[in-house]
Amino acid sequence: MIEQINILRENGEKKLNSITSSEQLQEWYQQYLGRKGDLTSLLKNLGNLSTKDRPIVGKIINKVKHELQESFELRQKAMRETILNQELEIDDLDVSLPGRPCITGHLHLATQTLRRIYNIFQEMGFQVYEAPEVESDEYNFQLLNIPEYHPARDMWDTFWVNDEIVLRTHTSPGQIWAMREYFPKPIRVILPGKCYRFEQITPRSEHQFYQVEGLAVGKNIRLTDLIGVMSEFAHKMYGAERKVRIRGSYFPFTEPSIEIDMTCSCGDKGCRLCKYTGWLEVAGAGMVHPVVLQNGGYNPEEWSGFAFGMGVERPAMLKHTIDDIRNFYSNDLRFLQQF
Ligand code: DAH
Repeated sequence: MIEQINILRENGEKKLNSITSSEQLQEWYQQYLGRKGDLTSLLKNLGNLSTKDRPIVGKIINKVKHELQESFELRQKAMRETILNQELEIDDLDVSLPGRPCITGHLHLATQTLRRIYNIFQEMGFQVYEAPEVESDEYNFQLLNIPEYHPARDMWDTFWVNDEIVLRTHTSPGQIWAMREYFPKPIRVILPGKCYRFEQITPRSEHQFYQVEGLAVGKNIRLTDLIGVMSEFAHKMYGAERKVRIRGSYFPFTEPSIEIDMTCSCGDKGCRLCKYTGWLEVAGAGMVHPVVLQNGGYNPEEWSGFAFGMGVERPAMLKHTIDDIRNFYSNDLRFLQQF
Protein backbone atom coordinates (compact mmCIF):
# COMPACT_ATOMS: atom_id res chain seq x y z
CA MET A 1 0.00 0.00 0.00
CA ILE A 2 2.89 2.33 0.79
CA GLU A 3 4.21 1.67 -2.68
CA GLN A 4 0.83 2.64 -4.09
CA ILE A 5 0.88 5.88 -2.12
CA ASN A 6 4.32 6.81 -3.37
CA ILE A 7 3.38 6.20 -6.98
CA LEU A 8 0.28 8.27 -6.51
CA ARG A 9 2.30 11.14 -5.10
CA GLU A 10 4.88 11.02 -7.89
CA ASN A 11 2.27 10.85 -10.61
CA GLY A 12 0.34 13.62 -8.94
CA GLU A 13 3.32 15.95 -8.80
CA LYS A 14 4.29 15.15 -12.37
CA LYS A 15 0.82 15.72 -13.71
CA LEU A 16 0.49 18.93 -11.76
CA ASN A 17 3.58 20.35 -13.41
CA SER A 18 2.30 19.66 -16.89
CA ILE A 19 -1.03 21.42 -16.31
CA THR A 20 -1.72 24.43 -18.56
CA SER A 21 -5.31 25.47 -17.93
CA SER A 22 -7.47 26.13 -14.91
CA GLU A 23 -9.94 23.46 -16.08
CA GLN A 24 -7.15 20.89 -15.97
CA LEU A 25 -6.19 22.16 -12.54
CA GLN A 26 -9.73 21.60 -11.28
CA GLU A 27 -9.79 18.10 -12.76
CA TRP A 28 -6.50 17.35 -11.10
CA TYR A 29 -7.86 18.43 -7.75
CA GLN A 30 -10.91 16.21 -8.13
CA GLN A 31 -8.75 13.26 -9.04
CA TYR A 32 -6.25 13.50 -6.20
CA LEU A 33 -7.71 15.55 -3.38
CA GLY A 34 -11.45 15.64 -4.09
CA ARG A 35 -14.05 13.91 -1.94
CA LYS A 36 -14.13 11.05 -4.39
CA GLY A 37 -10.44 11.34 -5.21
CA ASP A 38 -7.69 8.74 -5.00
CA LEU A 39 -6.32 9.77 -1.62
CA THR A 40 -9.72 9.73 -0.02
CA SER A 41 -10.39 6.24 -1.29
CA LEU A 42 -7.03 5.09 0.06
CA LEU A 43 -8.00 6.51 3.44
CA LYS A 44 -11.26 4.61 3.23
CA ASN A 45 -9.37 1.38 2.61
CA LEU A 46 -7.39 1.78 5.85
CA GLY A 47 -9.96 -0.43 7.53
CA ASN A 48 -8.60 -3.44 5.65
CA LEU A 49 -5.19 -3.10 7.31
CA SER A 50 -4.13 -4.60 10.58
CA THR A 51 -4.49 -2.45 13.68
CA LYS A 52 -0.74 -2.19 13.89
CA ASP A 53 -0.27 -0.86 10.34
CA ARG A 54 -3.34 1.32 10.28
CA PRO A 55 -1.94 4.38 12.16
CA ILE A 56 1.39 4.23 10.31
CA VAL A 57 -0.16 4.14 6.87
CA GLY A 58 -2.80 6.66 7.89
CA LYS A 59 -0.10 9.10 8.86
CA ILE A 60 1.69 8.64 5.55
CA ILE A 61 -1.48 9.22 3.58
CA ASN A 62 -2.19 12.42 5.48
CA LYS A 63 1.34 13.65 4.93
CA VAL A 64 1.07 13.03 1.20
CA LYS A 65 -2.29 14.73 1.21
CA HIS A 66 -0.75 17.83 2.75
CA GLU A 67 2.15 17.81 0.34
CA LEU A 68 -0.13 17.52 -2.66
CA GLN A 69 -2.39 20.24 -1.26
CA GLU A 70 0.60 22.55 -0.92
CA SER A 71 1.84 21.78 -4.41
CA PHE A 72 -1.66 22.39 -5.71
CA GLU A 73 -1.81 25.81 -4.08
CA LEU A 74 1.60 26.80 -5.41
CA ARG A 75 0.64 25.72 -8.87
CA GLN A 76 -2.67 27.57 -8.64
CA LYS A 77 -0.90 30.77 -7.60
CA ALA A 78 1.67 30.45 -10.35
CA MET A 79 -1.05 29.88 -12.93
CA ARG A 80 -3.02 32.91 -11.78
CA GLU A 81 0.04 35.06 -12.22
CA THR A 82 0.70 33.68 -15.66
CA ILE A 83 -2.88 34.34 -16.73
CA LEU A 84 -2.78 37.87 -15.33
CA ASN A 85 0.48 38.58 -17.14
CA GLN A 86 -0.94 37.25 -20.36
CA GLU A 87 -4.02 39.42 -20.00
CA LEU A 88 -1.94 42.47 -19.24
CA GLU A 89 0.07 41.85 -22.37
CA ILE A 90 -2.99 41.49 -24.53
CA ASP A 91 -4.80 44.46 -22.97
CA ASP A 92 -1.89 46.78 -23.32
CA LEU A 93 -2.85 48.61 -20.15
CA ASP A 94 -1.49 52.13 -20.12
CA VAL A 95 -1.75 53.45 -16.59
CA SER A 96 -0.65 56.90 -17.71
CA LEU A 97 -3.76 57.45 -19.86
CA PRO A 98 -6.21 59.98 -18.41
CA GLY A 99 -9.32 58.40 -16.85
CA ARG A 100 -12.64 58.31 -18.62
CA PRO A 101 -14.77 61.16 -17.35
CA CYS A 102 -17.95 60.06 -15.58
CA ILE A 103 -21.08 61.60 -16.91
CA THR A 104 -22.56 63.75 -14.21
CA GLY A 105 -25.87 65.47 -14.82
CA HIS A 106 -26.62 69.08 -14.13
CA LEU A 107 -29.56 71.06 -12.89
CA HIS A 108 -32.55 71.37 -15.17
CA LEU A 109 -32.99 74.78 -16.73
CA ALA A 110 -36.20 75.33 -14.73
CA THR A 111 -34.35 74.58 -11.48
CA GLN A 112 -31.50 76.88 -12.44
CA THR A 113 -33.99 79.67 -13.12
CA LEU A 114 -35.82 79.01 -9.85
CA ARG A 115 -32.56 79.22 -7.94
CA ARG A 116 -31.66 82.53 -9.52
CA ILE A 117 -35.06 83.84 -8.48
CA TYR A 118 -34.56 82.52 -4.91
CA ASN A 119 -31.20 84.27 -4.65
CA ILE A 120 -32.56 87.61 -5.73
CA PHE A 121 -35.48 87.53 -3.33
CA GLN A 122 -33.34 86.13 -0.55
CA GLU A 123 -31.24 89.29 -0.71
CA MET A 124 -34.43 91.24 -0.08
CA GLY A 125 -35.30 89.13 2.97
CA PHE A 126 -37.76 86.68 1.41
CA GLN A 127 -37.57 83.06 2.41
CA VAL A 128 -38.77 80.07 0.40
CA TYR A 129 -42.00 78.50 1.61
CA GLU A 130 -43.32 75.32 0.02
CA ALA A 131 -47.04 74.66 -0.14
CA PRO A 132 -48.96 71.58 -1.39
CA GLU A 133 -49.28 70.80 -5.10
CA VAL A 134 -52.56 68.99 -4.60
CA GLU A 135 -55.06 71.40 -3.16
CA SER A 136 -58.63 71.61 -2.02
CA ASP A 137 -61.12 73.72 -3.92
CA GLU A 138 -61.26 75.79 -0.75
CA TYR A 139 -57.58 76.76 -0.78
CA ASN A 140 -57.14 76.96 -4.54
CA PHE A 141 -60.24 79.13 -5.01
CA GLN A 142 -62.60 79.94 -2.16
CA LEU A 143 -60.15 81.32 0.40
CA LEU A 144 -58.66 83.42 -2.39
CA ASN A 145 -61.95 85.18 -2.82
CA ILE A 146 -63.10 83.04 -5.74
CA PRO A 147 -66.43 81.49 -4.65
CA GLU A 148 -67.95 78.53 -6.39
CA TYR A 149 -69.78 80.26 -9.20
CA HIS A 150 -67.45 83.22 -9.52
CA PRO A 151 -66.70 83.93 -13.18
CA ALA A 152 -63.02 84.38 -12.28
CA ARG A 153 -62.76 80.59 -12.13
CA ASP A 154 -62.83 80.66 -15.90
CA MET A 155 -59.31 82.09 -15.73
CA TRP A 156 -58.02 78.74 -14.53
CA ASP A 157 -58.76 75.50 -16.35
CA THR A 158 -58.49 72.85 -13.76
CA PHE A 159 -57.52 69.21 -13.30
CA TRP A 160 -59.99 67.87 -10.77
CA VAL A 161 -59.08 64.82 -8.68
CA ASN A 162 -62.66 64.67 -7.38
CA ASP A 163 -65.31 67.29 -6.61
CA GLU A 164 -63.20 68.92 -3.95
CA ILE A 165 -59.58 68.22 -4.78
CA VAL A 166 -57.60 69.89 -7.56
CA LEU A 167 -54.06 69.98 -8.80
CA ARG A 168 -53.32 73.58 -7.91
CA THR A 169 -53.78 75.94 -10.81
CA HIS A 170 -51.50 78.58 -9.32
CA THR A 171 -49.19 79.05 -6.36
CA SER A 172 -51.53 81.60 -4.76
CA PRO A 173 -53.14 79.11 -2.29
CA GLY A 174 -49.70 79.01 -0.65
CA GLN A 175 -50.49 82.53 0.59
CA ILE A 176 -53.16 81.09 2.88
CA TRP A 177 -50.85 78.32 4.14
CA ALA A 178 -48.11 80.82 4.90
CA MET A 179 -50.44 83.29 6.62
CA ARG A 180 -52.05 80.62 8.77
CA GLU A 181 -48.63 79.34 9.80
CA TYR A 182 -46.99 82.70 10.51
CA PHE A 183 -49.82 84.64 12.16
CA PRO A 184 -49.33 86.98 14.01
CA LYS A 185 -45.86 87.65 12.64
CA PRO A 186 -45.02 89.76 9.60
CA ILE A 187 -44.36 87.68 6.48
CA ARG A 188 -41.92 87.84 3.63
CA VAL A 189 -41.95 84.63 1.58
CA ILE A 190 -41.74 83.36 -1.95
CA LEU A 191 -43.75 80.28 -2.81
CA PRO A 192 -42.31 78.35 -5.72
CA GLY A 193 -43.71 75.23 -7.28
CA LYS A 194 -45.44 73.30 -10.00
CA CYS A 195 -48.90 74.28 -11.16
CA TYR A 196 -51.29 72.44 -13.43
CA ARG A 197 -53.91 73.57 -15.88
CA PHE A 198 -56.16 71.69 -18.20
CA GLU A 199 -54.84 73.56 -21.21
CA GLN A 200 -54.28 72.83 -24.80
CA ILE A 201 -50.55 72.25 -25.13
CA THR A 202 -48.93 74.68 -27.54
CA PRO A 203 -45.44 76.13 -27.95
CA ARG A 204 -46.47 78.79 -25.42
CA SER A 205 -48.49 76.80 -22.90
CA GLU A 206 -47.99 73.49 -21.10
CA HIS A 207 -50.39 71.75 -18.76
CA GLN A 208 -47.69 71.83 -16.08
CA PHE A 209 -45.38 74.71 -15.34
CA TYR A 210 -43.64 76.48 -12.50
CA GLN A 211 -44.71 79.65 -10.78
CA VAL A 212 -43.14 81.72 -8.07
CA GLU A 213 -45.57 83.52 -5.81
CA GLY A 214 -44.48 86.28 -3.47
CA LEU A 215 -46.18 87.47 -0.30
CA ALA A 216 -45.33 90.22 2.13
CA VAL A 217 -47.61 91.00 5.05
CA GLY A 218 -46.86 93.69 7.60
CA LYS A 219 -48.13 96.75 9.35
CA ASN A 220 -47.44 99.42 6.77
CA ILE A 221 -46.99 97.72 3.46
CA ARG A 222 -47.95 99.77 0.41
CA LEU A 223 -48.17 99.48 -3.32
CA THR A 224 -44.90 101.41 -3.65
CA ASP A 225 -43.13 98.64 -1.70
CA LEU A 226 -44.42 96.14 -4.23
CA ILE A 227 -43.25 98.26 -7.14
CA GLY A 228 -39.84 98.77 -5.52
CA VAL A 229 -39.37 95.04 -4.91
CA MET A 230 -40.41 94.12 -8.44
CA SER A 231 -38.17 96.77 -10.05
CA GLU A 232 -35.24 95.50 -8.01
CA PHE A 233 -36.06 91.97 -9.12
CA ALA A 234 -36.25 92.94 -12.81
CA HIS A 235 -32.91 94.74 -12.59
CA LYS A 236 -31.16 91.86 -10.85
CA MET A 237 -32.69 89.19 -13.05
CA TYR A 238 -32.53 90.89 -16.43
CA GLY A 239 -30.14 93.84 -16.11
CA ALA A 240 -30.02 97.31 -14.58
CA GLU A 241 -31.01 98.96 -17.83
CA ARG A 242 -34.54 97.50 -17.72
CA LYS A 243 -37.39 99.89 -17.04
CA VAL A 244 -40.52 98.74 -15.28
CA ARG A 245 -44.09 99.86 -15.87
CA ILE A 246 -47.36 99.18 -14.11
CA ARG A 247 -50.75 98.52 -15.67
CA GLY A 248 -54.05 98.18 -13.88
CA SER A 249 -55.44 94.62 -13.90
CA TYR A 250 -57.85 92.33 -12.13
CA PHE A 251 -57.30 89.37 -9.81
CA PRO A 252 -59.91 88.29 -7.27
CA PHE A 253 -57.32 88.01 -4.48
CA THR A 254 -55.75 91.46 -4.84
CA GLU A 255 -57.14 94.97 -4.65
CA PRO A 256 -55.90 96.94 -6.43
CA SER A 257 -54.45 94.50 -8.94
CA ILE A 258 -51.66 95.33 -11.31
CA GLU A 259 -49.61 93.81 -14.08
CA ILE A 260 -45.88 94.49 -14.07
CA ASP A 261 -44.03 94.80 -17.37
CA MET A 262 -40.44 95.60 -18.19
CA THR A 263 -38.70 96.86 -21.29
CA CYS A 264 -37.68 94.23 -23.81
CA SER A 265 -34.03 93.50 -24.55
CA CYS A 266 -34.54 94.95 -28.04
CA GLY A 267 -34.72 98.43 -26.49
CA ASP A 268 -37.67 100.26 -27.99
CA LYS A 269 -37.05 98.90 -31.48
CA GLY A 270 -39.62 96.16 -31.07
CA CYS A 271 -39.10 92.50 -31.89
CA ARG A 272 -40.92 89.19 -32.14
CA LEU A 273 -40.38 88.44 -28.44
CA CYS A 274 -42.24 91.54 -27.31
CA LYS A 275 -44.61 91.38 -30.26
CA TYR A 276 -43.23 94.77 -31.36
CA THR A 277 -44.50 96.53 -28.25
CA GLY A 278 -41.13 96.99 -26.55
CA TRP A 279 -42.59 95.54 -23.30
CA LEU A 280 -42.59 92.10 -21.68
CA GLU A 281 -44.83 90.86 -18.87
CA VAL A 282 -43.02 90.05 -15.63
CA ALA A 283 -45.74 89.30 -13.10
CA GLY A 284 -49.30 89.73 -11.97
CA ALA A 285 -49.50 91.41 -8.58
CA GLY A 286 -51.41 93.63 -6.22
CA MET A 287 -52.26 94.47 -2.63
CA VAL A 288 -53.60 91.41 -0.82
CA HIS A 289 -57.40 91.60 -0.79
CA PRO A 290 -58.86 92.25 2.71
CA VAL A 291 -60.93 89.07 2.44
CA VAL A 292 -57.79 87.05 1.73
CA LEU A 293 -55.92 88.65 4.65
CA GLN A 294 -58.87 87.80 6.85
CA ASN A 295 -58.92 84.20 5.58
CA GLY A 296 -55.26 83.93 6.47
CA GLY A 297 -56.03 85.15 9.99
CA TYR A 298 -54.76 88.72 9.64
CA ASN A 299 -57.07 91.62 10.49
CA PRO A 300 -57.14 93.88 7.41
CA GLU A 301 -57.73 96.92 9.62
CA GLU A 302 -54.32 96.35 11.14
CA TRP A 303 -52.34 94.55 8.51
CA SER A 304 -51.68 95.03 4.82
CA GLY A 305 -49.67 93.14 2.27
CA PHE A 306 -48.68 92.71 -1.32
CA ALA A 307 -48.52 89.59 -3.47
CA PHE A 308 -47.26 88.72 -6.89
CA GLY A 309 -47.13 85.69 -9.13
CA MET A 310 -44.87 84.97 -12.07
CA GLY A 311 -43.93 82.20 -14.41
CA VAL A 312 -40.54 80.52 -14.46
CA GLU A 313 -40.28 78.88 -17.88
CA ARG A 314 -41.23 82.05 -19.77
CA PRO A 315 -38.38 84.17 -18.39
CA ALA A 316 -35.96 81.31 -19.11
CA MET A 317 -37.34 81.13 -22.65
CA LEU A 318 -36.79 84.85 -23.08
CA LYS A 319 -33.26 84.68 -21.78
CA HIS A 320 -32.20 81.76 -23.94
CA THR A 321 -34.48 82.45 -26.92
CA ILE A 322 -36.26 79.12 -26.53
CA ASP A 323 -39.29 79.10 -28.79
CA ASP A 324 -41.19 76.12 -27.42
CA ILE A 325 -42.14 75.54 -23.77
CA ARG A 326 -42.67 71.83 -24.45
CA ASN A 327 -38.89 71.39 -24.55
CA PHE A 328 -38.81 71.81 -20.77
CA TYR A 329 -40.65 68.56 -20.11
CA SER A 330 -39.99 66.37 -23.12
CA ASN A 331 -36.71 65.14 -21.57
CA ASP A 332 -34.72 65.50 -24.74
CA LEU A 333 -31.11 65.56 -23.57
CA ARG A 334 -30.01 67.38 -26.70
CA PHE A 335 -32.08 70.29 -25.48
CA LEU A 336 -31.34 70.01 -21.75
CA GLN A 337 -27.59 69.67 -22.12
CA GLN A 338 -27.33 73.11 -23.68
CA PHE A 339 -27.99 74.84 -20.36
N1 DAH B 1 -52.26 83.44 -9.40
C1 DAH B 1 -52.20 84.25 -10.60
C2 DAH B 1 -52.24 83.36 -11.83
O1 DAH B 1 -51.86 82.24 -11.77
C3 DAH B 1 -50.97 85.09 -10.61
C4 DAH B 1 -51.00 86.15 -9.57
C5 DAH B 1 -51.54 87.36 -9.86
C6 DAH B 1 -50.56 85.93 -8.29
C7 DAH B 1 -51.59 88.38 -8.93
C8 DAH B 1 -50.62 86.92 -7.33
C9 DAH B 1 -51.15 88.15 -7.68
O2 DAH B 1 -50.19 86.76 -6.08
O3 DAH B 1 -51.17 89.12 -6.74
O4 DAH B 1 -52.61 83.80 -12.87
